[in-house]
Amino acid sequence: MRKPAIILLTSLLTVSWTATVILARPGKRYDKRTEMCRLIDSGKLDWESDHWGIGAAKFKEVCKSCHNRNNDKGAPFLYMESYSSEGWNQVFAKRRKKCARDGSWDVLSQEELLLVNDYLYRNANDTYNPNDADSCG
Ligand code: HEC
Repeated sequence: MRKPAIILLTSLLTVSWTATVILARPGKRYDKRTEMCRLIDSGKLDWESDHWGIGAAKFKEVCKSCHNRNNDKGAPFLYMESYSSEGWNQVFAKRRKKCARDGSWDVLSQEELLLVNDYLYRNANDTYNPNDADSCG
């Protein structure tokens, strides 16, 4: 089971290193809707901090309830690395995806949506976390 994952990771890293610049984990996020600069590196480890806890938990509880691998709702599989940081910002700023327009996001408060956006922005496919054991080889 481990081998394919390692091969995939290696090829992903090769592609990323050659094709894009991997940014350090961002510490700030400009939010277009609220026109605020949000500080998103409160210095705590993700799993200890309430801030991250809520964003991660709400993504899992609400978004992933449809966007899981074998859903029967017609939702593409999504995880935090499905988009770049900017890509996630666009998804939340524009809110043009079908589920954002049809009320599926409405179980989340505006504040919770900001936290989900923060969480995804910080952990997107163009960010790199030197403290993450997964990235240490
Ligand atoms: C009730 C189910 C449901 C929930 C909850 C839901 N989505 Fe969706 N989402 C969908 C479906 C279905 C589509 C595909 C719509 C279409 O056919 O264009 C979609 C499409 C998307 C897309 C476009 C994906 C692509 O590859 O085209 C994004 C991004 C997205 N959703 C993000 C989110 C986020 C972020 C949340 C949580 C805040 C969320 N969704 C919650 C059902 C859901």
